[in-house]
Amino acid sequence: MRRAIALRGRCAVALAGGQTPRPVYHRLAEEYGRSLPWSRIHLFWGDERYVPLDDPQSNYGMVRQTLLDRIPLPEENVHPMPTHISPPEEAARMYERTLRSFFGDAGSTFDLVLLGVGADGHTASLFPGSSALRERAHWVIATQAPVEPRMRLSLTLLAINAADQVMFLVSGAEKRPAMRMLLDDPQRARTLYPAAMVRPRGSVVWFVDRAALAESGYCLE
Ligand code: 6PG
Repeated sequence: MRRAIALRGRCAVALAGGQTPRPVYHRLAEEYGRSLPWSRIHLFWGDERYVPLDDPQSNYGMVRQTLLDRIPLPEENVHPMPTHISPPEEAARMYERTLRSFFGDAGSTFDLVLLGVGADGHTASLFPGSSALRERAHWVIATQAPVEPRMRLSLTLLAINAADQVMFLVSGAEKRPAMRMLLDDPQRARTLYPAAMVRPRGSVVWFVDRAALAESGYCLE
């Protein structure tokens, strides 16, 4: 984030939802709540469940609780997906307008995108076999998940792969099969797992816990 601010005067981050990032956001607030130039940082979401922002399943609500309520980030720098707008397709179009007016026409998007990986290899709300994976025009789509809550808003691969850097946060033994193929056979993984289709302009960094990586024979830093 500091590098992006030095380069561009600001940092735009798309946050992951789910459970894995909770301790990361908590620690970010604890350890950097006072030292990061939060007025230069803008927070977006990589995906959202199509529920009210105060719903217990909301990714925004999770970030509000673990991070936003504990850092001096100006409210105008917080850009939640507009799940109060219906239908969901209109909410996706509205968020896309927000992104395009923020990033302009440079063709690039976020400085950093945080993503999780599901046991089925999904990432954000891009699930295996979904037509959303073939989206080549829009940055944000409304899409159906195979699990509750089914209706989602999600960045597309087009938006994610226009980012500078991606960091995957992966935890739990249920991710082991997907992680094994992602790391051992990325070619084949790319045909199956949306997480393997993530190829941003810059680097991809994997943060994987021992439970999700065991028996893969990878060096654990
Ligand atoms: C969501 C997330 C989703 C999540 C993975 C991993 O809205 O649920 O965006 O893509 O990152 O499902 O979830 P866990 O971190 O809870 O295992």
